[in-house]
Amino acid sequence: MIAPGATLGLLGGGQLGRMFTVAARTLGYRVTVLDPDPLSPAAEFATGHLNTAYTHPVSLAELAQTCAAVTTEFENAPAEALLTLAEKTLVRPSGDAVAIAQDRSREKAFIASHGLPVGPWADVREEADFEPALARVKLPAILKTARFGYDGKGQAQVAAPADLARVFAEWKRAPCVLEERLALDREISVILARAADGEIAVFPVAENRHAHGILDLTIAPARIPESLSSEAAELASRLARALDYVGVLAVEMFVVGGRLLVNEIAPRPHNSGHYTIDACRTSQFEQQVRVLCGLPLGDPTLHTPAVMVNLLGDIWAAGEPRWEAVLRHAGAHLHLYGKREARPARKMGHVTICEATLERALEVAIDIRRDLGIAD
Ligand SMILES: Nc1ncnc2c1ncn2[C@@H]1O[C@H](COP(=O)(O)OP(=O)(O)O)[C@@H](O)[C@H]1O
Ligand SMILES: [Mg+2]
Repeated sequence: MIAPGATLGLLGGGQLGRMFTVAARTLGYRVTVLDPDPLSPAAEFATGHLNTAYTHPVSLAELAQTCAAVTTEFENAPAEALLTLAEKTLVRPSGDAVAIAQDRSREKAFIASHGLPVGPWADVREEADFEPALARVKLPAILKTARFGYDGKGQAQVAAPADLARVFAEWKRAPCVLEERLALDREISVILARAADGEIAVFPVAENRHAHGILDLTIAPARIPESLSSEAAELASRLARALDYVGVLAVEMFVVGGRLLVNEIAPRPHNSGHYTIDACRTSQFEQQVRVLCGLPLGDPTLHTPAVMVNLLGDIWAAGEPRWEAVLRHAGAHLHLYGKREARPARKMGHVTICEATLERALEVAIDIRRDLGIAD
């Protein structure tokens, strides 16, 4: 067990890292953030900031030397950096697990090879793959870059075979996967923590609504039958065991025709788990600290139904949003990430509304969204 007082390393310093850092500092740990952004949201709360590229050998050596354990907050942190760190210090999750999650093609192959349900998909690595891919995947489809996509970026609609050739060329033949565009009943996510001894704690299944490929709203608990929730939790747990995963893992799933399909995984806390800060007995970020340090897992139980509203930079278009619209609600918790510049579609913060009933939380969410000018 790594006792409070030790220094923890964090690869990546965005908002997820910020909330991890707050949880770690609250438990009495020191945190060193490695992030090239001098205005890193996590660094504001950290005790140290290595302000270089993620792969900088001097920074990696310093992290390895000064940190009792290292974790990450985004999957585009190079898996190689984690593997390098693991030679000298404890790294959770492993670089191997992160390498799978950061490549859609490896991720899908891994999920399917363990007998877990995924929608129709095919690899597209060269022009010769077009024909077999179009034979496996019905149109309309979505072409996604295998790497570096997030928030719907690196995705294009493929309505006709010619779109595939055009987009693949536009993207300079970057490796891609082609996915059938599914008629989604709902989107859900399961976030869990798996400890080094194999113990798993699963957070309540959350229901997610996306707008323009970006998470817009999370509702917890998800409004799905109990049997489907337990199946989702079981699928996510099987995936964590198959990955021999140690850390916090998020699994995005689609509900299609009443059945579950795994969409993608994230080797870290997740935007759809922000509600756990205010609505669960232990947050996903505290859980990340606990797993990293070998502390007992916290209780993930929901104590209040919750709705999380993402705050994107768009609502700064006419200046600082009127925060009274949020703060006047007793059940609303405002979280802002300290980002200096509000760009459209940039994640700037979130509000979690906790109320005695989900219906009431949804009503308050509608009020807040209207007052802040968030489109429905
Ligand atoms: N195959 C699909 N069929 C229908 N909708 C999809 C499909 N793939 C993605 N989407 C929609 O786009 C969103 C973002 O896609 P996702 O694969 O999760 O990429 P990322 O979150 O990495 O940008 C999903 O949450 C979902 O709303
Ligand atoms: Mg996603």
